[in-house]
Amino acid sequence: MDYIIEEKFELGPLVTFVPNKKHPVYSWFHFKEGFSRDFVMMIFDQFKLMEGDWVLDPFCGSGTTLLASKERGINSVGVDVMPLAVFLSQVKTMDYDLRHLKNVAQDIFSKRFTKPSIEGLSPLVRRAFTKYALEDILFFKQVISEIRDVLAKNFFTLALMIAANKVSMAYKDGAVIKFRKRKHIPPLRPVFKRIVKKMFYDLKTLQTKKSIIKVYHADARRLDFLEDRSFNAVITSPPYLNIIDYIKVYSIENELFFNQTKIDIHGLRSYIGIDIEKNYSEFDYLDVPPIGKAYFRDMKDVLSELYRLLNERGNAVLVVGEGVFPDKIIPVPIILSEIAKDIGFHVKRIVHVNKRTVTDPNRKKIGIALESLIFLEK
Ligand SMILES: C[S@@+](CC[C@H](N)C(=O)[O-])C[C@H]1O[C@@H](n2cnc3c(N)ncnc32)[C@H](O)[C@@H]1O
Repeated sequence: MDYIIEEKFELGPLVTFVPNKKHPVYSWFHFKEGFSRDFVMMIFDQFKLMEGDWVLDPFCGSGTTLLASKERGINSVGVDVMPLAVFLSQVKTMDYDLRHLKNVAQDIFSKRFTKPSIEGLSPLVRRAFTKYALEDILFFKQVISEIRDVLAKNFFTLALMIAANKVSMAYKDGAVIKFRKRKHIPPLRPVFKRIVKKMFYDLKTLQTKKSIIKVYHADARRLDFLEDRSFNAVITSPPYLNIIDYIKVYSIENELFFNQTKIDIHGLRSYIGIDIEKNYSEFDYLDVPPIGKAYFRDMKDVLSELYRLLNERGNAVLVVGEGVFPDKIIPVPIILSEIAKDIGFHVKRIVHVNKRTVTDPNRKKIGIALESLIFLEK
């Protein structure tokens, strides 16, 4: 190892979504796996990025890197395999005509309620909402589907998605959906109105600059549609080893708003860390379970793409967590750094920013799992 390893646990909160709650637009839709605007801004300063530079986030999630780039006038490209993530990234980074949106809102809320059928919805969705809430959601979904302007349609779809979450009995707990009893559930219509108003306010408040933003629904392991050496920096957080059920935890949103009722096994297998049937023998030297080898094989493809896409002396930062298994903790940041070095990257630093004690189901301590930043330079 010829790189510096530091501890900066004071940065821990910045690699969570929590600080985004206080920032206009960033706060739309709580994306648990996200990092914060403040983290991205800190990295922009460290990397000395300027207006007109190009930044890539190949696992863009809810679009935090892209939106921060828009604030700074930096051009950005985001990639994600999950349609919900692509949708969030697009809606949050578009330029809107607020007056037009206000007219559309007036139209939406002036429509008289007609009772939709809730037949055909999965048991999961039925359990998540009261019958009245579901009818309201489906009614507004229908009204929104008739909006012709795609920008406005997507904007109000997101607002409805956020409102639906507020009247839901389901909540996300790590990678699983859980249910709670609620004594008082507010009716959807006023909640939806309030969210739309807040989103209008946010659009007025967030100061952005002119920049180019592109969001692709694609796989970070194959970015051949992007040109060699076209980025000054990469800021990203790949899925963590063994915490990967992204589709499942968003299945209510996927069914209600993207009409995806069943999990597409083929799509799922393309997620990093799941395709364990490929040949991963090159990682046999690692003492990790097959899923771990698959993860490192996939991440090797991603890192090779990033190397190709960065320009000379281009910088990258990856937020990664150690992999927790019942009998051990896998030092993902160290292994990824070694892989990056083999590809040709200069590993500048690893900074540990979070640590948590992990236990097995019998509450026996497995160890301490770290979350770290890996700084690479081409
Ligand atoms: C940790 S989250 C990123 C969150 C993001 N930094 C934010 O602030 O919202 C990882 C993302 O990687 C996506 N992902 C998983 N496998 C992928 C792949 N093979 N290619 C592209 N994206 C992938 C997931 O859908 C998820 O949105």
